[in-house]
Amino acid sequence: MGAPLLKVSNLHKYFAAAAGKLHILQGIDFEVNEGEFLAVVGESGSGKSTMLQLLGTLEQPDEGTISLDGEFIHALSSNKQARLRNEKIGFVYQAHHLIPELTALENVTLPLLIQGVETSVAEQRAHALLARLNMSERADHVPGKLSGGEAQRVAVARSLSTKPRLLLADEPTGNLDERTAQEVFELLRLLCREERAAVVMVTHSKQLALDCDRVLKLHDGKVVDAAVS
Ligand SMILES: Nc1ncnc2c1ncn2[C@@H]1O[C@H](COP(=O)(O)OP(=O)(O)OP(=O)(O)O)[C@@H](O)[C@H]1O
Ligand SMILES: [Mg+2]
Repeated sequence: MGAPLLKVSNLHKYFAAAAGKLHILQGIDFEVNEGEFLAVVGESGSGKSTMLQLLGTLEQPDEGTISLDGEFIHALSSNKQARLRNEKIGFVYQAHHLIPELTALENVTLPLLIQGVETSVAEQRAHALLARLNMSERADHVPGKLSGGEAQRVAVARSLSTKPRLLLADEPTGNLDERTAQEVFELLRLLCREERAAVVMVTHSKQLALDCDRVLKLHDGKVVDAAVS
């Protein structure tokens, strides 16, 4: 396994609530290596999605540091964070969040066009990815004409089109039946391994978590031993 790509240290997050301040993340520490696939598990409300939002620079930590490729990404300006997200981070969510008016191909191409990649080059990369995900025949379909599993494969292709260093996935197979979930997961794992991306995937599936390289378990905003339920 490669060097640590992502280093998370003493991460704290509070949210304001009517009853006072809620301490949602209570000092999280971990590292993820290049090419490593980390599962994040824990009961509902334990802070998994909040942590992913912080790792993706979509929320700011109240305390602690997040370093990606040796850079403290939580401390960057919001403009630099937006650029970093486009260049180095891929996101996949439970719902595919594809743009409904665009075809599968256009959805996958868009992050590259935002980077200024030439259209023909972007389309070539998008076609290649869709082919790997067995979606070539659906490249011209808009998301409304795709099944759930197909749409999620397009979302995976989109998240990887820019060759991110870090892929953040929040229950990416949560809306799929068990077999389709396994298929999408296998493809995600294969492509991330090839690209040597570090992956942090939240899942409620014990089976999928066991198929990852390592499991990080959260309980009440803290990391606990994954073997203890
Ligand atoms: N913007 C917010 N304002 C206030 N409280 C919030 C906010 N976002 C999340 N929370 C609270 O933080 C806690 C953790 O939420 P989070 O979404 O991270 O949980 P989770 O582990 O992803 O759960 P699930 O498995 O249900 O998706 C919850 O108690 C939630 O109500
Ligand atoms: Mg969640």
